[in-house]
Amino acid sequence: MTAVVKKRILTGDRPTGPLHLGHLAGSLQNRVKLQATYDCFFIIADYQVLTDHIKETDTIENNIIEILLDWLSVGMDPVKSTFFIQSRVPEIADLTMYFSMLVTLSRLQRNPTVKDEIKQSGLHHISYGFLGYPISQAADILIVRANLVPVGDDNLPHVEQTREIARTFNGLFGEVLPVPEALVGDVARLPGLDGQKMSKSLGNAIYLKDTPVEIRTKIMSAITDPSRIKATDAGHPDICNIYQYHAAFNQSQLSDIEKSCRQGKIGCVACKQIAAEQIISCLRPIQAKRAYYQDKITFLKDIVEEGNRKTSCEGKKTMSLVREAMHFDYQKIFCS
Ligand code: TRP
Repeated sequence: MTAVVKKRILTGDRPTGPLHLGHLAGSLQNRVKLQATYDCFFIIADYQVLTDHIKETDTIENNIIEILLDWLSVGMDPVKSTFFIQSRVPEIADLTMYFSMLVTLSRLQRNPTVKDEIKQSGLHHISYGFLGYPISQAADILIVRANLVPVGDDNLPHVEQTREIARTFNGLFGEVLPVPEALVGDVARLPGLDGQKMSKSLGNAIYLKDTPVEIRTKIMSAITDPSRIKATDAGHPDICNIYQYHAAFNQSQLSDIEKSCRQGKIGCVACKQIAAEQIISCLRPIQAKRAYYQDKITFLKDIVEEGNRKTSCEGKKTMSLVREAMHFDYQKIFCS
């Protein structure tokens, strides 16, 4: 009998705050499914927070707790998968050091996501760590020798950078590292309340932990089809945020909503009320689980310590392969 080896996945989040509906529709629901088929490693990328939040290090620990609660509440399962914290697996920083010699400065400066982030943040004096974070992300992925990396399209350049690093390493030192592939979800990105990408920094997000009152208030403030003045005007669901929320959380009524909107038979207020109640009911079981785990801090700690240990163990295997291939395992007198 041949043992079936599951392919390995690595993905994760930065602990910058609680997760929102954009994360749920765009990545979390997919992760829950992937757990059945793949050996999943989920990273809480705390070093990555330092790249653009260096003055808010006092918030990171709480944000890690928020992310763990969000992960557990949506059904990511620490029995099937491995949850770990980037800074607590020292092999990642170790591997980053080697990888940093394989990437040119101009290659880092060409990364389109990094370029966008620099533009958006208005950062004029970016740090060495910020420019280099795609290298550290490559180490996150390759430390467990992952085959697949589920990400949103903003992270695709980082997976491409990881593939280049793996190929360069293998070209120089022999076939040691897998060349991982990105897994891009098929769901459209969920817009925020103002129609831009849903994001914490834009202040347009609905969080998984928002109360029904908060959700109703937020939805009521959302922008809809701007050409619709009166409730009886014909609407254009294709350019309406709220329609996107129906598509993500109210499949069963979607075609009715679309028809009524186009014919001017349902106004934006009524349509928003339906969307809000639908989101609230989708979040109800998630919030019940969140409440259950909320005061089980020791349980959270145990999950992460076990995940850190397991990832570190994989990391040690990777580092010994890497060092051996690079003749950095000094065989003469500095060995062991
Ligand atoms: N850059 C990712 C984000 O912003 C987080 C992340 C860090 C990540 N390391 C990773 C994602 C490795 C996939 C694989 O959300």
